[in-house]
Amino acid sequence: MKRVFSGVQPSGVLTLGNYLGALKNFVRVQAEHDCLFCVVDLHALTVPQDPLSLRGNVRRVAALFLASGIDPDRATIFVQSRVSAHAEMAWLLQCLTWFGELGRMTQFKEKSQGKETFSVGLFTYPTLMAADILLYDTNYVPVGEDQKQHLELTRDLAQRFNRRYGDLLVVPEPMIARVGARIMALDNPRAKMSKSSDTPDSYISMLDDPDTIAKKIRRAVTDSDNAIRYAPQEKPGVSNLMSILSLCSGRSLEQLEEDFAGKGYGQLKQAVAEAVIAELEPIQQRYRDIVNSNTLDEILDRGARRAQELAAATLYRVQQAMGL
Ligand code: AQP
Repeated sequence: MKRVFSGVQPSGVLTLGNYLGALKNFVRVQAEHDCLFCVVDLHALTVPQDPLSLRGNVRRVAALFLASGIDPDRATIFVQSRVSAHAEMAWLLQCLTWFGELGRMTQFKEKSQGKETFSVGLFTYPTLMAADILLYDTNYVPVGEDQKQHLELTRDLAQRFNRRYGDLLVVPEPMIARVGARIMALDNPRAKMSKSSDTPDSYISMLDDPDTIAKKIRRAVTDSDNAIRYAPQEKPGVSNLMSILSLCSGRSLEQLEEDFAGKGYGQLKQAVAEAVIAELEPIQQRYRDIVNSNTLDEILDRGARRAQELAAATLYRVQQAMGL
C-alpha cells in the first residue's frame, strides 16, 4: 500500500473549505492507502495562539476528522507535537534549505505582508511541513492548490538530501482534486476561505448552526449580471457557490448550469445553503458524541505511538547519513 500523509492546522475551527478541500478527500483515500492524518499544532504556533484555545482546537480538529468519516482502524490520526522527531527533522532540513527559497513562498509573503514583525517560525514553516511528510516515507500528499508550492519545496529537499547523502528519502507526489481544490471566501471570492480570518462572514465553520450557515450564504458576494454560469475569473462569487453546491450535492457544474438556467441568485443561494446544511448536520451530530469522549484520547494515543515508531526510524537513518 502506498503511504499518504496530510496535516491540518488547529488555528481555528475547520471551515467548509478545509472540509471540501481536504477532509472529504481524506475519507475517500483511506480505503486504498496507508494514511496518516495529523493535527499540526506546531505549525499553528507560527502565528500567536491563545494556549487554551489552541488546546481546544487540537481536540476539535481531531474530533472533526473522525466525525467526517476518517476511520481510526484504517488511518492513523495523531497530534504533531506528540512526535518530537518532527521538530528534530525540521532542523536538519533547515540546514539544507536556502534562505531565498523560503523567501519566495507565497504563503509566507501573504501572511507577513503589512506586518511589522512576524516569527522566524512563519518563515521556516515549509521546512517543518517537509519534515512532516518526509518522516513517513510518504508517496502522496492530498493538498489543496494553496499548498502546492510547499510540496514542491519538499520534493526539492528530498532530492537534494538524496543527492548529497544517498537515496534515503521518498520523493512525494501531490494528490489534487479537480474541483474543491480551492474554496473562496464568501465576502471576497478572490481570496481563499480561511479558518483564521478575522471576519466570520467570510467562512462557514464546520460547527456553524443551520441559521448561521443560511445567513452567511445569503450575504455571499456575487455580481450584478444575474446569470448562473461557472466562470471563476469573470464571476468568482457565483462560481464559488456553484463549486460548493457541486461538491455537496454530487451534481456536476454543467448539470448545475442547466438546472439553474433562467433562475436567480436567490434560488442558487437557497440551494447552496440547503446542501451545505445537509452535508454538515450529520457530521455535527457525530462530532458532539466524540469531542469529549475518552475514545478520542485513546485514538490519539494509539496514533501517536505508531507515528513515533515510524518517524524515529526515518530520523535515525537521516541522522546517521548526515554524520550525527
Ligand atoms: N479554502 C480552501 N479550499 C480548499 N482547501 C483548503 N484548505 C484550506 N483552506 C482551503 C486545505 O485544508 C488543509 C488544511 O489546511 P491547514 O489548516 O493546514 O492550513 P491552511 O491551508 O492555511 O488552511 P486555512 O483554513 O487557511 O488556515 P489558516 O487560516 O490558519 O491559514 C490543506 O490541505 C489545505 O489545502
